[in-house]
Parts: sequence; structure tokens; C-alpha cells
Amino acid sequence: MGDLRTQVHEAYRAWSPESARLIEDARRVFPGGDTRMSAHFGPYPLFIERAEGCRLYDADGHEIRDFMNNFTSLIHGHANPDVVEAVCEQMRRGSAYAAPTRSQVALGSLLQERVPSIEQLRFTSSGSEATLMTLRCARAATGKHRIMKMEGGYHGSYELAEVSLVPLPGLAGPPDAPVPVPIDASIPPSTLGDVVPCPFNDPEMARTLIARHAHELAAVIVEPVLGSMGMIPATREFLQALRDAASAHDVLLVFDEVITLRLGLGGAQQQHDVVPDLTALGKIIGGGLPIGAFGGSEELMRVFHPDEPNPVMHASTFSLSMAAGAAAMEQLDVAAIRRTNELGDRLRTGFNEAFARHGIRGQAVGLGSLVNLHLTDAPLPDARAVLDGLIASGPINSLLHLEMLQRGVASASRLMYCTSTAMVESDVDFAVDALDDALTALRPGIEAERPALLN
Ligand SMILES: Cc1ncc(COP(=O)(O)O)c(C=O)c1O
Repeated sequence: MGDLRTQVHEAYRAWSPESARLIEDARRVFPGGDTRMSAHFGPYPLFIERAEGCRLYDADGHEIRDFMNNFTSLIHGHANPDVVEAVCEQMRRGSAYAAPTRSQVALGSLLQERVPSIEQLRFTSSGSEATLMTLRCARAATGKHRIMKMEGGYHGSYELAEVSLVPLPGLAGPPDAPVPVPIDASIPPSTLGDVVPCPFNDPEMARTLIARHAHELAAVIVEPVLGSMGMIPATREFLQALRDAASAHDVLLVFDEVITLRLGLGGAQQQHDVVPDLTALGKIIGGGLPIGAFGGSEELMRVFHPDEPNPVMHASTFSLSMAAGAAAMEQLDVAAIRRTNELGDRLRTGFNEAFARHGIRGQAVGLGSLVNLHLTDAPLPDARAVLDGLIASGPINSLLHLEMLQRGVASASRLMYCTSTAMVESDVDFAVDALDDALTALRPGIEAERPALLN
């Protein structure tokens, strides 16, 4: 694979000399030159100077369509005028007071009105804290401690949430007897022991595991679309099986809708008509600023009531994020969501047609505005299938990402794309043309080095 990788990396370096220079400064300050693992990629990430709408402008002056949108959080793209105005107005009045504000009640009421499972909620500073607080709520409410999570499920940056995030073959056990897999050497055995991993989209296994661990299981947490593991939508049957089994065994069902709230006014739970006990939110509800929220029934959320004898400890909230979030969410009506979802459908269809035209075994999956490319034509029901595809395609994924960047299209390096209200059809068609062109450029290298990817 050496030749193709060298060729693509050399072209990328020649195309982005200023970013290549800036990364040297960054490497003196940060390990590897970056402060965020998920946004880092090799040989070095692009340095961005500014962004507006759906366009990024990098340090070398390139204009790049942004299909990453800060990992789905910028539903209106960059520097949305209403959000900018709301943030400036809030800054003039002070950024945070450690006191209740009208803006937090406004944003909270909007979410309460929209999301079916939320009767009461709390804000947090991140999606990670939001999912963590749902689990603490479940533990306090049930008196049990273990958590079932899906293989490949991502719920933020803390030990419990990162168990079995990457269920690598050889480590994860057989599909009918999965074992918890640590993401890295920082995860203690006690945390592994707290997690019951479950294969995604396998209703039978989910029912069996919930019944087997019912006496010790506080919660089942699931993303309605498996986000960081390739945008794999859960089937309704799977979500309903989780709902039924959890209810039958006094286990709380948590939907992590940090990403999927963008799919519908009331999130994926509304689309699937499967209502969890607790929901975690984040990303779009902050209008681009850091935020999270979690909520559920009034009865469950009572564990956070300050007048309770021993309430579950929870702190955080920023007025600035409240103001930005309210400005973003008020613009996000049914028509805006329909539009971003339609743009996502158009992107998926266009990408799939491009793979077919080039005779390359690839596919675009996802739901609505959420799209992910995979270099395999095998069915992708779960994380294990996604990892098999990634391992078989080797470095072609990351080379395709670099080729797309050079054609003016940004995605996550794992080839995750999402649309925003700042885009129009021609932006989507631009991305499809870029894939066409990138596949033409990569094809000789694929023929030579990964012929199994050709039809
Ligand atoms: C599904 C899901 N849950 C939780 C999180 C964590 O959110 P945050 O990065 O705000 O902590 C993320 C972040 O990408 C996510 O995708």
C-alpha cells in the first residue's frame, strides 16, 4: 500500500503548505499537534481560519464545503446570523451568572415540548455529562449498578461510555457471548465489570442479556443511529425489543439522542414511536456552543430535586450556550429538518451512484441528514460488520478523506458527512462530483493494492 499512500500524502502536503507549517508549531505544544482525538487525522489536519454558512476557509486560502459541521452539532452551519446576534447580545450582559436565567427556561421549555420522553430536564456542559447523568439517574432510581451498552456505541469521553466502543475481532468474544472491551489502557477492570455489552440491532440477544442481568442492570443505553461506528440506523424492531425487555425487568431505557435529535423535531424516538425512560441531548441544542441536556419523567428526574433528602449531585450551565441554543433551535422547525433530511437523502443516493459508476465496492449509509461512507458492499447491521469492512479496506478510507478535502469537501476522517440548513442542492451535488473525481484518482492505486474493493 506504500505507493498510493505516499502519492496521496505528498499531494496533500503540496496542497496545504501553510497547515503543514502550522502543525510543526502545534506539535511543540500538544501531543501529536492536536487537542482532540476524533478531529485529528494524518498526515496532519487542516488549520481553519474562518467559516461561514457551509464553507470553511483554511490557512492556505482554500474554500471547503463543510459536511462535518463539528461532528453534526452545527445544524445551521457556521456563523448563523441569529445565533451570532444572540451570543453577542448575551455577552454584552455577561456570559454566565451561576443563577437561573430566562434563556435557560426558554430553551428547556422548547425541548420539553418537542421530545416525547422529556417531562423535566437538566442542562449540562457537554453530551458526555448528559449521558453520564442519565446513568447516574438510573442507578439512583433502580438501586442497581450495571449498564448495558451497545458494541460500537459512543456516549462521550469517560471510562464507562467507552467500553466496547471498538469491539475488535479477537477481543470482543463471539457475537452470541460478547465481552467488554477497553478502549485503551486507562480503563480499570472495575469499569469493565460494570458494563454488559450487547451487539447492535440484535433483538434476540438484547432480550436474552436483559433478562439474564435484570437483577443488576440499572439501564440500557443506545443511540438510535450508531454514530461514531459508521451511522448505522437501529431498526425499529430492535428499539422496540429494548423497550419491551427493559420495561419487563425494571431496567431503564436511555436513548442517547445527542446526534439523532437533528433527524426530527422530537428526535428519533418520535420518528420510531419508541419512547425511552431517559434521553440525553447535546450538539445542535447549543447552537454550536458546548452543551448537553438530559431528561425524563417528572418522577425519575425527582432524584435531582434539591429538596430531596439526598439528591443526585449535578452541577453546570452556561448562559451563553442557552442563548445560542435557543436561537438555533427556534429556527429549526419541521420544514428545516425536512430539508436537511432531504439533502442527506440526495447525498446518500449520489454517493451510492458514484460507487456504482466506478465499480468500487462502497456504500453510503445513514438516515436523513446523517451519512457515512463505507468501502464495502457487505450488509452493515452492527459495529462488528463495520469493523470488518474497515479492516479489509485498510488505508483507502483515510486516503479517500484526503482526496475529498483536496476537492473542497470536508467530512470526518472516518467519512461521516452531515447536511445543514446552510446548504442547497448544488452543495450536495458538488460533494457527489468530488467523490466521482476522487474515485477516478484512486482507482489505479486500488487496482494495484486493494483489488478486492473492485467489482
Ligand atoms: C451519540 C453521542 N453521545 C455523546 C457524545 C458526547 O458529547 P460531547 O462531545 O458534547 O461530550 C457524542 C459526541 O460526539 C455523541 O456523538
